[in-house]
Amino acid sequence: MSGTYTVVRTLGRADVAHDILEELPEWFGIDRFTHEYVEAAAKFPNYVAVGPESGIGPDGGAVAFEDVLGVLLLDQRYPTSAEVHLLAVRRKHHRAGIGRTLLERVENDLRAQGVRLLSVKTLGPSAYDPGFDQTRAFYTACGFHPVEEFPDLWADSPCLLMVKVL
Ligand SMILES: CC(C)(COP(=O)(O)OP(=O)(O)OC[C@H]1O[C@@H](n2cnc3c(N)ncnc32)[C@H](O)[C@@H]1OP(=O)(O)O)[C@@H](O)C(=O)NCCC(=O)NCCS
Repeated sequence: MSGTYTVVRTLGRADVAHDILEELPEWFGIDRFTHEYVEAAAKFPNYVAVGPESGIGPDGGAVAFEDVLGVLLLDQRYPTSAEVHLLAVRRKHHRAGIGRTLLERVENDLRAQGVRLLSVKTLGPSAYDPGFDQTRAFYTACGFHPVEEFPDLWADSPCLLMVKVL
């Protein structure tokens, strides 16, 4: 699969996340979170992986949401750190390197800006959930380290903070 998609950075495209999230109910099954992510896509930088037929422009403006194979929303609150706010890849393209490629592109851009730390919050291991076992395996394979599980940060689920030094 490597080489058959391109990663582009866009801004203000709320629609890029919605379709993919609906496809992945095991991870994004709660409506209010999906709504929050779609709103976040409108304000955070989006990195999207698109297929070869997308006809995308350099700013991502022309991409149709059905051409988006994966999306990463980046939240940067401080000059030297940033957070992966959302990362999702269409189910039929899982395990084809798209998630890793999206992260690598983000990490390269952040390093160039002097950012030193990338974090992500995901479901902690004390909640039984095979889907999120895979999610944590992915972040571990991409160089993230677990820091702490916070039982009360989120209303219903334990939150695991993972970090990567860039
Ligand atoms: C997690 C996710 C973004 C990973 O993207 P992906 O494109 O499928 O992952 P990649 O192909 O880039 O995988 C990179 C490496 O991560 C690890 N990995 C990925 N998926 C894995 C799985 N299901 N089980 C174990 N390890 C896995 C592997 O080491 C893999 O390398 P390899 O295939 O050479 O062995 C994607 O599966 C997804 O959208 N999952 C549902 C939503 C989600 O969990 N989002 C994150 C919420 S915080």
